[in-house]
Amino acid sequence: MVIAVDGPSGSGKSSVCRAAASELGAAYLDTGAMYRAATWYCLQQEVGLDDHDAVEVAVEELPLNISTNPDHQVITVGQADVTEAIRDASISENVSAVATNPKARALLIASQRGIIDREGFIVAEGRDITTVVAPDAQVRVLLTASAEARLRRRGAQLGGTQDAEALKRQVLDRDTKDSAASNFTEAADGVAVLDSSDLSFQETVDSLISRVQL
Ligand code: CDP
Repeated sequence: MVIAVDGPSGSGKSSVCRAAASELGAAYLDTGAMYRAATWYCLQQEVGLDDHDAVEVAVEELPLNISTNPDHQVITVGQADVTEAIRDASISENVSAVATNPKARALLIASQRGIIDREGFIVAEGRDITTVVAPDAQVRVLLTASAEARLRRRGAQLGGTQDAEALKRQVLDRDTKDSAASNFTEAADGVAVLDSSDLSFQETVDSLISRVQL
């Protein structure tokens, strides 16, 4: 049983998917964290992000380990625990460069498919899970929210420490870059849209779980 969820920044997909996986007793895969870890590694290795070949090589050798326990997310690159570091603004600003590199994407997608196959019962979330990574998933959902709701949540997530205009620019800018890489704003055939704009967190989790027929 594979539950595939895609959605844009601030749609709440990571927290919703983690909670749903935990309630279901399923594994959880945050594919965005893999792109973030790859970006962290490139920056750490001082690989120029516009050097496509160098990014490819770095992703090929990326010593990434990502836990699939929804209640205990640990992401390591080699000996380094990067769980916190990959959420840094420097990663958010640069991750699109890795996500739009076709070879890097292909490598990470292969690794994601391996994890999904290994786990069997899993909630996997990202931008292209319902369409590319696991198009045969039994449950395929596009989690959306209005731009206003997404900005509000992302602002709250960052503890209101960021300038509202700068935050808006960042979120919308990443939307534009991301939609150039994968068209996640429209649901593909057979993918159900779950709009969380007017739903509470638990209502959104419940709605996702209600689609899973065990
Ligand atoms: O911070 P946010 O929740 O928006 O993003 P994330 O899920 O942590 O993913 C970070 C970035 O990785 C996205 O902005 C995309 O550029 C990329 N990504 C992707 O291209 N494909 C995926 N399946 C997941 C993430």
